[in-house]
Amino acid sequence: MELTWYGHSCFLLKGNKTILIDPFAPEGNIPKTPDIIAVTHGHADHMGETVRLNRPTVSINEVAKYLKARGIPAEGMNIGGSIVMEGVKFTMTQAIHSAWIEEEGLGFAGGGTAGFVIEMDDKRVYHAGDTALFSDMKLIGELYHPDVALLPIGGRFTMGPEEAMIAARYVGAPLVIPMHYNTWPVISQDPELFKSVLERTTDIKVRVMNPGETIQI
Ligand code: NI
Ligand code: MN
Repeated sequence: MELTWYGHSCFLLKGNKTILIDPFAPEGNIPKTPDIIAVTHGHADHMGETVRLNRPTVSINEVAKYLKARGIPAEGMNIGGSIVMEGVKFTMTQAIHSAWIEEEGLGFAGGGTAGFVIEMDDKRVYHAGDTALFSDMKLIGELYHPDVALLPIGGRFTMGPEEAMIAARYVGAPLVIPMHYNTWPVISQDPELFKSVLERTTDIKVRVMNPGETIQI
């Protein structure tokens, strides 16, 4: 499977199908025709281009309802559940964060916030969404054994590097890719420091990616 990072929390998984997660990329240039879009929550920096792209989309029920009302073929689900779409399995995981669908004016209640374990081509990728550290990340490791964990390290709106190092241990994936940092000055972090400390203290490998970069997993 190929994994491409488009910056912030936006990733493309390319295997049997193409899965675009949280299609917000500050520098643009995200794929326009993924087979499926997965949205972790309604915040604008995650919902991103979802409405404009108009692809089959999986999200928490309330976000799916909002999308369906705008003509998007969305599938709703909720935390702890799984859905198989086009042979790809999406399991929705807890994320400790706030939920809101941002729009001009007041906006809409977003239901909740989530992460995903996505299983395709015998690989499992855990995208944590926006979240604080929580100890049930151990359960995500125990239950789903992800090959890769995509973890926010930006701080302020999510966990920062210190918490994310504990999250990486809890999840136990052999490879961690940091996300949700340096998009704006308020979430400035040094991903190389995160990498060096985590690799010095555990067997976990950290891959710091550049926006637009693709790796094989
Ligand atoms: Ni958020
Ligand atoms: Mn965010």
